[in-house]
Amino acid sequence: MHRNCGASTFTVLVLIPAVLYLYGSLRSIHQLQRTLRLLTIGRGDIKENTFATNKQRDSHVLKKEQSALGGVALPTNEESTSSTGIHITTPRQWQASDSFDENNNTTAVPVSGNPPTLFWHVGPHKTSTTAIQRFLAANKYLLREKDNIESPWMMPGHFHGAEIVVNVARCLSGRKGPKDMSCQQMLQSFQHFVAGARADSKNIVLSAEGFSFFNELQIQQFVQDYFAGWEIRVIVFFRRFDDWLASLHFQKNRHTPFRERSNIVDFLEAPSIFSTVEFHYSHKVRERYQSVTDHNVTIVNFHTADEGRSLIEQFVCDGLQGMAPHTCRAAQRFVSIKINKSHSLDSGFLLAEALEQNMLPLLDFANRTLSSDEETSLLARIDRKLETSTDLPVRCLSETAQGHVWNRTKEWFPFDLERSKSLSKAENVSRSRTCCLDVSRVCALDDWKAFFRGLPVSREID
Ligand SMILES: *[C@@H]1O[C@H](CO)[C@@H](O)[C@H](O)[C@H]1NC(C)=O
Ligand SMILES: *[C@@H]1O[C@H](CO)[C@@H](O)[C@H](O)[C@H]1NC(C)=O
Ligand SMILES: *[C@@H]1O[C@H](CO)[C@@H](O)[C@H](O)[C@H]1NC(C)=O
Ligand SMILES: *[C@@H]1O[C@H](CO)[C@@H](O)[C@H](O)[C@H]1NC(C)=O
Ligand SMILES: *[C@@H]1O[C@H](CO)[C@@H](O)[C@H](O)[C@H]1NC(C)=O
Ligand SMILES: *[C@@H]1O[C@H](CO)[C@@H](O)[C@H](O)[C@H]1NC(C)=O
Ligand SMILES: *[C@@H]1O[C@H](CO)[C@@H](O)[C@H](O)[C@H]1NC(C)=O
Repeated sequence: MHRNCGASTFTVLVLIPAVLYLYGSLRSIHQLQRTLRLLTIGRGDIKENTFATNKQRDSHVLKKEQSALGGVALPTNEESTSSTGIHITTPRQWQASDSFDENNNTTAVPVSGNPPTLFWHVGPHKTSTTAIQRFLAANKYLLREKDNIESPWMMPGHFHGAEIVVNVARCLSGRKGPKDMSCQQMLQSFQHFVAGARADSKNIVLSAEGFSFFNELQIQQFVQDYFAGWEIRVIVFFRRFDDWLASLHFQKNRHTPFRERSNIVDFLEAPSIFSTVEFHYSHKVRERYQSVTDHNVTIVNFHTADEGRSLIEQFVCDGLQGMAPHTCRAAQRFVSIKINKSHSLDSGFLLAEALEQNMLPLLDFANRTLSSDEETSLLARIDRKLETSTDLPVRCLSETAQGHVWNRTKEWFPFDLERSKSLSKAENVSRSRTCCLDVSRVCALDDWKAFFRGLPVSREID
């Protein structure tokens, strides 16, 4: 029987700890490229900014960060002048609204004159939204005190801290949230926050990838209910569709137990998958936000992060349209460090297959489970083996589906697809992303059989 990499063939043997990180998919893609004898794609194809601990940070940056965190943000020489030499002192101001009715907090009332601005970052997922939210949270005092931009940091709800706005998006998009979502209370609190910001003449920034799930009606309703009379500026990040799909797939699987995982081929061959995921892809999101009103939409190219300006910098400096000059400078100084203590999904699929086929000498696994330490060590060994393997058998998406992915990638990416690469090469790379290792055929290879037999699987041996 031909056993493909379908998740249905896995037995429950191991539980994946929640240490898999997005970075793992980079290795996975590199592996596939080698396998398919393709030229290397740029290093920026999978990019996730993450945050190092203070200890790991450059001390210069650390000092600046701490002053910002403490709300002191002492001006430095560079802070009196923008990078272009233009003196930027006053963030946008407007008259405190006299038409705002404090006794009526159900609907924001339009103000005459210069209205406050809502910067509305609507994702989508897998475009460094979390990194941006963390940066905004870490710099909330700077943002508020120096740049006059508020974001809610205290609201009841399931999500806290940097991700607090996710509550709002979840509650209003009608997507199922965690059971302890107390939407009514949270939305009331959100309404007070907006009213307070307005009374204090503050602009607002909201960042949540969940806004990418809003349909036209929900976008309209949200503006009507909370931001009537505000100037709305929407920010949408664009990641190549093929690259985004691979990242989305990884995200959906990394915390999932083995049995429920699906490889990227099965993932993309599921019925109506494209219409489901395309709805919250940048292109469609942008279309919806643009169509509903005359919202001013700024688009950011996810793939330019390697060209010297981080996505955080692009968000704060370009996305906030020059209205956050102090925070922009903090973003320019900020160094984000990648953490990659993870494993590719490939190693997970291979380990599941090898365990199912009893290819590992299971010494002390009467109940057929692995401790997370053992599992981590096994996955690392498999990853190392994968890195030195070439020509492994793969299974790819059907030609039609591949054509669909590639056509959408070309049609929907509003920037230069791959500045440094020819189109044909880009297409090959696109196709390599929609393949997965054929794990049953890999496990049938002699060197892999020997490899699995030789794996130490108990802590005594380790
Ligand atoms: C609150 O404001 C909305 C919109 O301006 C208005 O329709 C509504 O009647 C007001 N409610 C009260 C209780 O004043
Ligand atoms: C406005 O908010 C206050 C505080 O939660 C609440 O008591 C009041 O009922 C709200 N007013 C309206 C009109 O919703
Ligand atoms: C959005 O508004 C700002 C300020 O009015 C303007 O500079 C910018 O060009 C606008 N962007 C779009 C996409 O309309
Ligand atoms: C992170 O990944 C890079 C590239 O794959 C590798 O060289 C480096 O050793 C990894 N770091 C850690 C801590 O695993
Ligand atoms: C099953 O494995 C787990 C994890 O190694 C262990 O904690 C547990 O005691 C084992 N149960 C039995 C019955 O051996
Ligand atoms: C992709 O685009 C090409 C050229 O426009 C077209 O011939 C082909 O049918 C398209 N394939 C799919 C699956 O949409
Ligand atoms: C892309 O794939 C085609 C057919 O598979 C091959 O002929 C071509 O050389 C590849 N191009 C690159 C740049 O790898």
